[in-house]
Amino acid sequence: MVSLAPSCNTNSNSEYKLQLDYPNHFPDPIPSPIRNKLTQERVALGQSLFFDPLLSSTGNISCATCHNPNLSFSDGKKFSLGHSGLPLKRNTPALINLAWSEHFFWDGGVKNLESLSFAALLNPDEMAIDLTQLCRELNQHPTYPDRFKKAYKTDSVSSAFISRALAQYMRTLISSSSKYDSVMQGHTTFTHLENQGYQIFMSNCATCHKPPLFQDNLFHHNGLSQTYSAEDLYLSTGRFRITRDSADLGKYKTPTLRNLNSTFPYMHDGRFESIDEVLNHYQSIDSANENQDLLVRSISFSEDDKQAIKAFLETLNDQPDN
Ligand code: HEC
Ligand code: HEC
Repeated sequence: MVSLAPSCNTNSNSEYKLQLDYPNHFPDPIPSPIRNKLTQERVALGQSLFFDPLLSSTGNISCATCHNPNLSFSDGKKFSLGHSGLPLKRNTPALINLAWSEHFFWDGGVKNLESLSFAALLNPDEMAIDLTQLCRELNQHPTYPDRFKKAYKTDSVSSAFISRALAQYMRTLISSSSKYDSVMQGHTTFTHLENQGYQIFMSNCATCHKPPLFQDNLFHHNGLSQTYSAEDLYLSTGRFRITRDSADLGKYKTPTLRNLNSTFPYMHDGRFESIDEVLNHYQSIDSANENQDLLVRSISFSEDDKQAIKAFLETLNDQPDN
């Protein structure tokens, strides 16, 4: 995972405009909205805010508490604990290649990265901050007022600018330095085993986990059993929570498969600890699940096939020296 300061050029306002730096086997990212163009000052401000516990009511929790940069911005927990000390209802997703995402959250409840942060800031179980209070504190802070002025030409810190700066930082969290990426750029080749895994992956998994981002910006029911206790029912509704269409019950946003070495446990409810458990699931799907995507059927892998898929999935992990 690289958080980068990409190539910059100076525009007439002497404000640094940034271009996201991504390899040419990637499609173009979704552009930033006109009201929030990508600039160096905005990304740097967003980065400071992302790691600052001042953004929570207790002063103990920052975005990075749950989105840890050492774990591709996830936290290795089944359910994170936030302000209330109660476990959250869904697994914390890694933040990877969000500049290519059309929907956010497991059920796609947010479509706009510029306003997404309000959900985390206001949620009583996450950061539980009072925005008026937060803006007051930031306006009295020794350095933030000047940085907001440079980034947004504003004399007063407001919550919209906080959220916009966070969005710009998150756009720069690009994962593109895996062995897979090197292979796609012609710099290296897969081993025999990786190549075997790649072939199996392309015929069984790639419709939803579509290369090179390994997601498809869509919602699917991947055959997970959706039986929950009454108190956890919220978990199983998936995309239905947003659309209220019963055909969407149990459908979730396809997660990327990049950096699986640091995004465990897996699935929206963190039910699987390992890739082996995930592959066992895809091998033993109960075809009686309602709404299950037609694309998912039980796939029979031999032990060798499994080793091959695992070898291929490992090529999707970012390598620090790439
Ligand atoms: C207490 C833990 C916690 C904190 C603190 C937290 N998050 Fe999250 N974050 C989550 C969980 C859990 C989800 C998934 C929610 C869902 O899908 O229902 C999530 C989802 C997201 C997503 C959507 C990713 C995707 O691919 O759909 C983004 C972006 C995000 N958080 C950014 C932030 C930012 C920015 C902050 C700080 C303002 C923050 N988070 C603070 C736990 C946390
Ligand atoms: C029909 C679309 C579809 C197909 C085909 C599919 N997946 Fe998935 N996959 C999903 C969805 C949707 C999720 C998230 C489900 C959830 O959390 O409830 C997911 C989750 C995962 C996860 C967990 C990722 C994480 O960060 O939590 C892994 C690993 C995975 N799939 C691997 C595979 C492999 C390997 C194959 C082929 C054998 C495959 N998938 C085939 C849609 C699909």
